Amino acid sequence: MSSPLARPTTVLLTGASSGIGAALLPRLLDRGHTVVALARRAAHLPARAGLVPVTCDLSDLPGLPALAARLAADHPGLSVLINAAAVQHARPLTDPASSPAHLIEEASLNLAAPALLIQALLPTLLAQPDGAIVNLSSGLATFPKAAGGLYSASKAGLSSFTTSLRWQLSTTPLLVSEVVLPLVDTPMTAGRGRGKISAEVAAVAILSGIDARRTMIRVGAARALPLIAALAPWLGRRILRGT
Ligand SMILES: NC(=O)c1ccc[n+]([C@@H]2O[C@H](COP(=O)([O-])OP(=O)(O)OC[C@H]3O[C@@H](n4cnc5c(N)ncnc54)[C@H](OP(=O)(O)O)[C@@H]3O)[C@@H](O)[C@H]2O)c1
Repeated sequence: MSSPLARPTTVLLTGASSGIGAALLPRLLDRGHTVVALARRAAHLPARAGLVPVTCDLSDLPGLPALAARLAADHPGLSVLINAAAVQHARPLTDPASSPAHLIEEASLNLAAPALLIQALLPTLLAQPDGAIVNLSSGLATFPKAAGGLYSASKAGLSSFTTSLRWQLSTTPLLVSEVVLPLVDTPMTAGRGRGKISAEVAAVAILSGIDARRTMIRVGAARALPLIAALAPWLGRRILRGT
């Protein structure tokens, strides 16, 4: 089968206003796709042919099925869903600035929102000859960081959910991909971490993984994780706990 992005199609991209999502957006538009771009700051995206900005708060879980139903009705040719939106509150629970709202936001936006969007959009995606669901996960799904317990858990949950979904859809033509990213230089990681790759490099790797129909798209240093997990899990825990 060919790439789900081989022909101009309609792509729903969450998190399009910043970081990796913002780096994916112009590349998708350059390839002739219509991009339905979701973010709270979607209205600030520079206007371009093919761009459909949708301002929304994806952590508003009860509103997501109706939002997705409206998007599906407006874009019946939607064939690719890329879940990039997420938030990380990188502080331990003992930090006085850590709040219940932070935990609710991480669990809602990073895990429940992609699941709700996927559930609501599945009939539309399955109606296309070669669609795709692409979920942005993290090396922290394998080895958690100390100061990001719920963020790491949300990415582990998203990874597990993506595997289940792939099994559920194994008899359909829908590609279900998990992207495992290393540290990427974006507002999410501002002021911390070393050896970060750029959002542009991450975006190019993600698109080439989709083009190759890879179910696991491991980017940069994240490619070493399966070997480290198999041979020296203590090393993986040591490297990632302080990121
Ligand atoms: N950066 C890294 O090192 C790294 C590593 C591994 C995995 N990842 C994953 O890669 C993805 C992109 O991360 P990034 O680094 O590019 O993050 P980022 O620069 O912080 O961008 C996050 C995006 O999520 C959107 N967003 C946040 N809260 C939202 C809400 N309530 N409703 C709707 N949209 C919301 C933001 O848009 P608005 O603020 O406009 O709403 C923004 O477009 C995430 O899934 C992240 O977990 C990143």
